[in-house]
Amino acid sequence: MRTNIESMWTQSLKRGEQPSYIDLRDHLMVIHRKHAGFTESCAFRCQDRLGHNSYEFLAEVVDPARHRRVLDLACGSGILLEICHRRCGPRVVLNGVDMSIEELDLARKRNPDPAIKLHQGIAQNLDHFDDGTFDVVLCHWALTLMDQVPEVLREVSRVLKPDGTFAAIVDGDPATAPGYAETHNMIYDVVKREYPNYGKVDLGDPRVRNSKDLKELAFEAFKGAQIDIESVIFEMDSSPDILAREVAGFFYASFILSTSAHHKMLADLEDHFAGPQKIDYSRFALPANRLIVRRRQLENS
Ligand SMILES: C[S@@+](CC[C@H](N)C(=O)[O-])C[C@H]1O[C@@H](n2cnc3c(N)ncnc32)[C@H](O)[C@@H]1O
Repeated sequence: MRTNIESMWTQSLKRGEQPSYIDLRDHLMVIHRKHAGFTESCAFRCQDRLGHNSYEFLAEVVDPARHRRVLDLACGSGILLEICHRRCGPRVVLNGVDMSIEELDLARKRNPDPAIKLHQGIAQNLDHFDDGTFDVVLCHWALTLMDQVPEVLREVSRVLKPDGTFAAIVDGDPATAPGYAETHNMIYDVVKREYPNYGKVDLGDPRVRNSKDLKELAFEAFKGAQIDIESVIFEMDSSPDILAREVAGFFYASFILSTSAHHKMLADLEDHFAGPQKIDYSRFALPANRLIVRRRQLENS
């Protein structure tokens, strides 16, 4: 049976306080304990114009002819590791880090090969790894959630080789994806009835959601590197009831709703996707950015 999530973060929100990074970690841990694997359900089914989902689009950054060691930061249920393994074969050594043990359990089931190494830990402290360990660090839809992003980027910079690459999928500009802002607002409107401050306060560092600010953060952490941000839309076509369920499940905000508010949100979304003509097939468009930081060997010499 569905129960709404309560955490240190929701308690701070209720008290009208700004949640701390400890509250945020607690919140994410509680959500991922109860709903491990939820991200992939929607993200895996949304595709770009070439038919690639965002995991495949990110995995393209790894070049099996050149790269030997790859880290998936906040690997969740391990789907990106599985895709990289399939693309690159055993010559590329894969590592995943996540703070949620429940997600790592799923990642291990999906990637039973012990050569794929999984570690429990936080992105703000990658002490498991020596300086200059990885050719590539990937991060799929998780940087957006994190606090202390400069610390995360500093750690990524430390564990990357001098000519390494960091690539991340993060939230894109809502204005680029038709209908996305309406869907987002519909969910947030329901959530705000129970948590009036939700939206004013949100998960993670808002700078990651804005390409200009994200570029500045990356410039600061990876001095001298080439930094590119590419905007892309991923779409899912399905019946309005399935779209409502999948899309709601992609938004962290939906997990804190009471059961009655959750039903209302699903009904609103289903109506939205069906439209006034009550069509039985509809579309959800998800805006994303792919950040790629390419370091050059000269940078540290
Ligand atoms: C939206 S899910 C994405 C999971 C996976 N990358 C994917 O796209 O399927 C976010 C993941 O980030 C992890 N996470 C969030 N903040 C983290 C942090 N500071 N350190 C390590 N893991 C973190 C969560 O436990 C969760 O598994």
